[in-house]
Order: sequence, then C-alpha cells, then structure tokens
Amino acid sequence: QELQMNLEQIEKGGYDHFMMKEIYEQPNVIKDTYRGRLHANEGLIKMAGVDDNIERFSNAQRILIVACGTSWHAGLVAEYIFEEFARIPVEVEYASEFRYRNPIIGDKDVLIAISQSGETADTLAAIKLAKEKGAFVFGVCNVVGSSISRETHAGAYTHAGPEIGVASTKAFTTQITVLTMIALRLAKLKGTLSNSDYHRYLSELEMIPEKVQEALQTNDMTKQIASVYKDATNCLYLGRGYNFPVALEGALKLKEISYIHAEGYPAAEMKHGPIALIDEQMPVIVIAPKQGHYDKVVSNVQEIKSRSGKIIAVVTKGDEQVRALADHVIEIPETSDALSPLVTTIPLQLLSYHIAVMRGCNVDQPRNLAKSVTVE
Ligand code: G6P
Repeated sequence: QELQMNLEQIEKGGYDHFMMKEIYEQPNVIKDTYRGRLHANEGLIKMAGVDDNIERFSNAQRILIVACGTSWHAGLVAEYIFEEFARIPVEVEYASEFRYRNPIIGDKDVLIAISQSGETADTLAAIKLAKEKGAFVFGVCNVVGSSISRETHAGAYTHAGPEIGVASTKAFTTQITVLTMIALRLAKLKGTLSNSDYHRYLSELEMIPEKVQEALQTNDMTKQIASVYKDATNCLYLGRGYNFPVALEGALKLKEISYIHAEGYPAAEMKHGPIALIDEQMPVIVIAPKQGHYDKVVSNVQEIKSRSGKIIAVVTKGDEQVRALADHVIEIPETSDALSPLVTTIPLQLLSYHIAVMRGCNVDQPRNLAKSVTVE
C-alpha cells in the first residue's frame, strides 16, 4: 500500500494531481510536438503524414473534422486556422452526430479525426464511415498505436506523453500545435499566406512554449480568483473568433472537475440569451486579448458591467481598458490572434483546477467521467 502511494507520488512529479503536472508540462510537450517538424529558420514544416499525401491535401475541396469533447474544441480552433491560413473550407462535427446522419462525403474530401486516446467509439465509427465513402482519412492522436491511428490512412501524433487526468489539458494544446503546422504546410503549398505572414507564424509558433511558460505564472492569481468564486453555481465564458472555442473549452474544464454549471458562448451571442442570466451572482470569464476583436469584446464587458456581473478577464499584458472595467484581470503575453488559443487556454485550465481543489473534488477522476469512451 505504502509502496503504491509512493509510486503515485513519484508519477505526479511533485504535484498534488496529475492534472496540475500535465498543465505544467505544456511548454515542453508543445516543443516535443513541433520538434523535427517545425523549421522556422528554413521556413519549412516537415510532416511525413502530410508530405506523403500532399496530393490528397492539395486537391481537397473541403476538410471535415470529427472529434468528441476537448478534441472537438481543438477541431473548432483548427477550423478558424485552416480557413484563414490555407483557404480551404472546413466543417467540424461531433463524431456522434456525423456518423448517424448519412453525411455527404466523397473522394475529394479529407477527414481529420482528432482523438487523444485514439479509442473513442464514435470517432472510430465516423472514420470507418468516411473511409467507406472514399474520403482520405487523417488522424491526430496522442496514443501511439491506438485504434484510430491504425484505422486512418495517415496521421500525425501529438507528442504530449501519457495524459492521466480525465480532464484533457496538454492533449488539447498539442492537438492545436499539430493542426496549426498542417495549416501552415498547406498555406505554403497553396500560396494562401503572404511570405511575411507565413514566416512570422512559423517563428511565433516556435515561441509559444515560452509564452505558455509565462502564462503559467498566472497560477497564483487564478488561485486567488478561485477562492472568490469557488461557491458559484453558474459561470459564463465568453470569447470571439479564435477564442470562442477556448471559451467552450474553459467552460467544459470547469464543469468536468468542479461540477459547477458553466457555459461557453461566442461573446456577440450574449445578447441573444445569456445576458438574461447576468446579475451580481454571475461570474463571467471574458477572453479579451489585444489582438482579435478587442473593441467588440470591450463593449461586451461594458454590458456585463452595467448588469453588475462579476468580470474575470484574460487580457494581454499591459491592458488598461478592460482592467478599468473588470473585477479581476489575468495577464498573458501578447501573441498573434491565430495562435492565441495556445496561451489563453492556460489560465482557464488553472482556474478550473483550483476551484475543483477548493471544492474538495476528485480532480483527476471526476465522477461519472471516463478518460476514454470506448462505448457509445
Ligand atoms: C472523454 C474524455 C475527454 C475527451 C473526450 C474525447 O470524454 O473525458 O477528456 O476530450 O473523451 O476523447 P479523445 O480521446 O477522443 O480525445
């Protein structure tokens, strides 16, 4: 028994929970994921799974992305990135919906399946269906040799290492890293990004681990905020553009491990419903980095303020406008809009972690949830 406990402590590498260890591993695993693939100095992305099938990608009329849970959120971020960088239309679907609706899909389509475990039953079934219909199927998995990695025509692994915490953290950021590299590779091929933008994104991606490291310094601040809101019964997360999926993911993290009801919304949709919920009891987490639709998000923040909602804002270092309105600010380093999800997501992971710990929840193994869902 004692030996077992010691082993587990060693495995947690000095952290109280696997989730925290995995959150802190992100600078390194993002680097592991792009190592050997991203060559910023030479202006190259080398990914065997993409390079060997470059015709299929270059002829793709559209890209379909299927996934579940957090992986589906990574797919949503990828939709924005692929369309912006490579100008290929993208559709993102829950694997469970895709497989049961007789989807229109053919041999000019590329289907990307995203799965940490590579074992999710619905995602696996969606892949089989797409293959039957002649699509080229590409996997983005973390677990090497998993069912999905075997069932797909080609793929690219995330090199996040084993993820033990049920709530996915490092798998999410490494999935986005892989998908960003694919989008950049295709942008180069298709000439859809200007030379200077292309090179700028390559070097920015290379700098992401440092920025994630800096974002981890928000830990004390998020812990302090957690102590104020740990007893909340509802929470709203708002973001726009690239950070809309981050809002969804932030809300999912909180639900999963703290059992607080949380919803993520595109900030501009607030006026079509969620605004009715806002009162002095309602914490609203707003992702408002300087790049992106900043002014629009600022006016959303004003709307929340005038209804006495509690504002927790994730802002770019040095921000003053949102600071003047918000109850709490969490500062993160500046990044281009397209790559910002890799950084903005960090304080949201930390916030949910601390709230869950303070509520006495089982962070690594939340009730009713499984790490991989191999049944329907
Ligand atoms: C479960 C896990 C989630 C995960 C989802 C998809 O619900 O608890 O963390 O995001 O499955 O899993 P996958 O392994 O396919 O990424």
